Amino acid sequence: MRVLTIETSCDETAMAVVEAKGGIRSPRFKVLKSEISSQIELHRPFGGVMPGLAKREHLKNLPPIEKTLDIDWEKVDLMAVIIGPGLEPALWTGIEYAKKLAKEHKKPLLGVNHLEAHLYSPLLSLKERDRNIPLPAIGLIVSGGHTILLALEKIDRWKKIGETRDDAVGEAFDKVARLVGLPYPGGPEIQKTAEKGNPNAIVFPKPMINQKNLDFSFSGLKTAIFYYLRDKKMTPKLRADVAASFQKTVIDILITKTLRAAWQYGAKSVVLAGGVAANKPLRDALKKKVKKDGLNFYVAGLQYSTDNAAMAAAAAYVDHLKGKRYRITAQANLNL
Ligand code: KG4
Ligand code: ZN
Repeated sequence: MRVLTIETSCDETAMAVVEAKGGIRSPRFKVLKSEISSQIELHRPFGGVMPGLAKREHLKNLPPIEKTLDIDWEKVDLMAVIIGPGLEPALWTGIEYAKKLAKEHKKPLLGVNHLEAHLYSPLLSLKERDRNIPLPAIGLIVSGGHTILLALEKIDRWKKIGETRDDAVGEAFDKVARLVGLPYPGGPEIQKTAEKGNPNAIVFPKPMINQKNLDFSFSGLKTAIFYYLRDKKMTPKLRADVAASFQKTVIDILITKTLRAAWQYGAKSVVLAGGVAANKPLRDALKKKVKKDGLNFYVAGLQYSTDNAAMAAAAAYVDHLKGKRYRITAQANLNL
């Protein structure tokens, strides 16, 4: 079936058309079109996303994106829109637009959880030879607002086994970027700057790494960096060393807890998802460790790791197969 999706939960306006087939054990996807209009440049001067501005831009961007998709409505079987978590005014723009299109073209409409969309995003990039993801699996979702470890017994049945007790990983990247004078969003900036630095230059604390639980804490790391920088004059070398050392610390923490989870739950696979999954050193390092332990590793292509609408089609198709329904209303604090 063909799924048309809309995502407006934060600062990307996105629509996609995805072909989906297969049963719940091995759903298959082919992204036919995926358009994203990023508002990053507009929000950058504010150092973060302004909800009112995001809403205005989504309203402006949705009609031209719809036009670019050149939708063949005859072939669309299902529509889906992300209903949360996210910024409430931003979410509403996508929901209202989706409702209008669904009514006009008489298509069924599903509400999709943004976190489930991230979780299922690696399915969009499965290779032909991988018929499905061997289960049980550990899912690590790392985004601007969330850091979650899941034990997946089935593709659509999971248990939350760990999460951050304070800042999300993406948030830590963004805050540390600001501390060293890099613009928003901090993740890609830190990654780029870290390439010129020494990851072993500074030893930062790894909060909770030795605790047996599978939770995370990143605010102490950010505070440690604040104090480390307090009496120092910023230089390109210091900036690069802090970026590289911070990034390495975060990667070490994520790897340690994810592998511990995999061991505890007898996992056969590890699935990495969310905006921070676009971080190349994290992808590479986690993949290497996971493979070394004899497990399978899955991550979405870069374009489907950060916010996009194609990932919503993966979640919508799974929900459709399972008959799972969300109320189609903005749910800013929706969780897993
Ligand atoms: O999933 P996402 O696009 O939006 C949310 O659902 O939050 O994730 C955005 C987060 C931001 O904090 C951003 O700094 C981070 O993902 N991010 C990265 C990279 N690209 C995006 N973090 C580290 N390295 C990257 N290359
Ligand atoms: Zn996201």
